Amino acid sequence: MRVRQFLGDALGWVDRRFPLSRLWHEHLAGYYAPKNFNFWYFFGSLALLMLVIQLLTGIWLTMNYKPSAEGAFASVEYIMRDVEWGWLVRYIHSTGASAFFVVIYLHMYRALLYGSYKHPRELLWLFGMCLYMLLMAEAFLGYLLPWGQMSYWGAQVIVNLFSAVPIIGDQLAIWVRGDYTISDVTLNRFFSLHVIAVPLLLVVMSVLHVMALHEVGSNNPDGIEIKKRKNAMGVPEDGIPFHPYYTVKDIFGAVVFFIIFFAVVFFAPTFGGLFLEPANFVPADPLKTPEHIAPVWYFTPFYSILRAVPGKFVGAVLMGGSVMMFFLLPWLDRSPVRSIRYRGWMFKLALALFTVSFLMLGWIGLQPASTTITMLARFFAVVYFLFFVLMPFYTRWDPVRPEPERVR
Ligand code: HEM
Repeated sequence: MRVRQFLGDALGWVDRRFPLSRLWHEHLAGYYAPKNFNFWYFFGSLALLMLVIQLLTGIWLTMNYKPSAEGAFASVEYIMRDVEWGWLVRYIHSTGASAFFVVIYLHMYRALLYGSYKHPRELLWLFGMCLYMLLMAEAFLGYLLPWGQMSYWGAQVIVNLFSAVPIIGDQLAIWVRGDYTISDVTLNRFFSLHVIAVPLLLVVMSVLHVMALHEVGSNNPDGIEIKKRKNAMGVPEDGIPFHPYYTVKDIFGAVVFFIIFFAVVFFAPTFGGLFLEPANFVPADPLKTPEHIAPVWYFTPFYSILRAVPGKFVGAVLMGGSVMMFFLLPWLDRSPVRSIRYRGWMFKLALALFTVSFLMLGWIGLQPASTTITMLARFFAVVYFLFFVLMPFYTRWDPVRPEPERVR
């Protein structure tokens, strides 16, 4: 009883100085979310979980990592062999990078399925896209740090793309590297950006993302606004408080996720070369180019588009454009309904073709270049872009079904 009294008093003391209870109420216990969330709604909270895991394991890795061309590779080996539990921290971080992208791709795909980017969630979507760009930057920067062959040559290929910019290209590439080739200087600045600048932006942007979500309210698998039907108390009739209903659901999701995640960490940390590439177990050698340079799987759809185009500059522009297209989705989609449940065959077909093209481009990017592979990449790159370019038309002509009044 005394403990309860003490905790109550302590909370009161804090509340008079900081809106702790108000924040808890506004964002959890009193935040009404649609009652029909399904499997696809696990991935937002899992993304937050991944962010925390990467930040924590990153802090511990930094305690023993040496950001220098001389010491980086050896320090990672030291972490793996000599630092107590170092192997676990490193494998959680390296598997975590891939798991983060799995989670984010499913999180984004949910938005495509249920039209979550449509009015009034445009800004929420734009914040999400900024998070995606930051995440890609974070993964790219981090990949140089072990200073293996693939770290070195992967960075070389991507930073060299800057030199394709007309007129200022060469100077720009030198400015990015801080040197004429990828070197100790580059490693140092990548380290600085990877451990502080980008993580800071990721955290800030995640807060903005969730604030924007709570301002407009969550979408749901039916794509209808629950705020339109409120009871006499002003509570949405199709909503339930986030806490305890969805906190319990999300904890269940996190447990299942951890079972799969740790099965990979313990039994297949390299994931057959997909999560940690074999060439990266060899120290970086600026004099020896690896036979086959490929980025990690989460970049390969875009890398395929780069390789599919003969000119370096045009390739880089199209690769960038393939990511940028997602920013435009809220304005390209002209459909009167949000959810795939009420869309017609046109959108369903377009989304199916886009899904196949994205997966195929991902697979193609892992294959060594050949004529067949290049032709396939060109074909699927065209399908990929058509999904966006034709969207204003097929979403307008699509024979949609009327949305229900209440969530199902
Ligand atoms: C660090 C990365 C990210 C974190 C931590 C994060 C977190 C969250 C959370 C916690 C939610 C609410 C729960 C849910 O709807 O599943 C959410 C919703 C949402 N997120 Fe993210 N997110 C991230 C990245 C992204 C990206 C890359 C996009 C898309 C470009 C995106 C788009 C959305 C949308 C549209 C919603 C609302 C979905 C709906 O109500 O149907 N997010 N996010």
